[in-house]
Amino acid sequence: MKILATGGAGFIGSHTCVALLEAGYDVVAVDNLYNSSEKAIKRIQEITGKQLRFYNADVCSRPQLREVFDSEPGVDAVIHFAGYKAVGESVQKPLEYYCNNLNSTMILCDVMREHGCKNIIFSSSATVYGLDMKSPITEEHPKGPCSNPYAWTKSMIEQILVDLHTGDPEWNVILLRYFNPIGAHPSGLIGEDPKGIPNNLLPYVAQVAIGKLPKLGVFGDDYDTPDGTGVRDYLHVMDLAYGHVAALKRFEGSHGVDIYNLGTGKGSSVLDVVHAFEKACGKKIPYEIKPRRAGDLPAYWCDPSKAERELGWKAKYDLYDMCRDSWNWQSKNPNGYDD
Ligand SMILES: NC(=O)c1ccc[n+]([C@@H]2O[C@H](COP(=O)([O-])OP(=O)(O)OC[C@H]3O[C@@H](n4cnc5c(N)ncnc54)[C@H](O)[C@@H]3O)[C@@H](O)[C@H]2O)c1
Repeated sequence: MKILATGGAGFIGSHTCVALLEAGYDVVAVDNLYNSSEKAIKRIQEITGKQLRFYNADVCSRPQLREVFDSEPGVDAVIHFAGYKAVGESVQKPLEYYCNNLNSTMILCDVMREHGCKNIIFSSSATVYGLDMKSPITEEHPKGPCSNPYAWTKSMIEQILVDLHTGDPEWNVILLRYFNPIGAHPSGLIGEDPKGIPNNLLPYVAQVAIGKLPKLGVFGDDYDTPDGTGVRDYLHVMDLAYGHVAALKRFEGSHGVDIYNLGTGKGSSVLDVVHAFEKACGKKIPYEIKPRRAGDLPAYWCDPSKAERELGWKAKYDLYDMCRDSWNWQSKNPNGYDD
C-alpha cells in the first residue's frame, strides 16, 4: 500500500514514517518545512535502511498538491499530520491557524478525491473534548466548547471529515485523538525539535537538563491531584506511530467514520515527569512553582480500550522509557536538527 503523510517531516509524522517503512508500506512525505527540517527525512531513511519520497510542498497550495498526487499515482491512504499546533500562538494568530489548518484539510480532501483516494486518517487531539472532561475519557464523551483556536480547528476539521463521509459514503475517515505524545525514537536520530522556547513540558524539561534553559516553571501545585500538579496522559511517540499503522488496517474493510483515543490510560503529574526525567538523565531538574495558568485543566487521561479492542493497539512504553528516549535525543542533538 502507498501511504502519503502530510507533515511527514514533523515530530509525530517522522516517527510514523519510520513505523510505516518498517511495516513494509511505500511512503510519500509532504511537508513545507515550516516547523521541521529535511534532515528528519534523511534520518528516517538511516534508521530504517529504506527510502521514502519527500516533496517540499504546501498542503494549502492546490497546484503543488496536485503535482505531488500526479507524480505519485495510486496513493491508497493519506495520514494528515500537517498543521500548526501551538495552543498559545493560536490565541495570538487565530486567522493563521484557521487558514492553515482548515484550508490544508479541505484542499487535501479535494485533491485526494480528484485522484480517487478516499481514505484519510486525521491527527486530532484530546482538546476536542473541551474543558469539562471526565476521566477516563472514552470516545463517547461529548465534544465540548474549546478553549483556544487551535483546539477549535481540530474540532471543526473532525466535523468537516464526518460531513464528507455523510455526503459520500465511499470516504473512510479515522479520527485519532492523541493525548500527550512525548519521547523520541530509541536511536536518538529523530525527536521533537521545537523552534524557540518550547511550549510543551517535555522539550522544556529536556532543555533545562541540557543547560539551555535555567529552570522549569510548574504552573500550579494546588490542584486536586496526588501531588497538586497537573496530570496528563503521556504516551511514547513510537507507540503513537504504531497506532497509525494499526489504524491503516481498518481501510482493508469499509468502516465509514471511526474515532479512537490514543493514550496509555494512565495519568502522570508534572512532578512525576520531572522525577522520571531526573532518573533518566542523572541530573536534578531545577523547577519553580508558579500560579495556575488560565485554561489549564487539573487532570485528564483517556480510556484507550476501544483502540485495543478494534485495532489491536496498546501502548507499551512507560514514563521512564519516554524520558530516557527524550534525553537520548536531546543529549545527542542539543540543537535539534541544527548543527
Ligand atoms: N504534539 C502534540 O502534542 C499533538 C497532540 C495532539 C495532536 N497533534 C497534532 O498532530 C499533528 C502533528 O503534530 P506534531 O507534534 O508532529 O507537529 P509538528 O509541527 O512537528 O508537525 C507538523 C508538520 O506539518 C508541517 N506543516 C504545517 N503546515 C503545513 C502546510 N500547510 N503544508 C505542508 N506542511 C505543513 C510542519 O512543517 C510540520 O513539519 C498536528 O496536526 C498536531 O496538531 C499533536
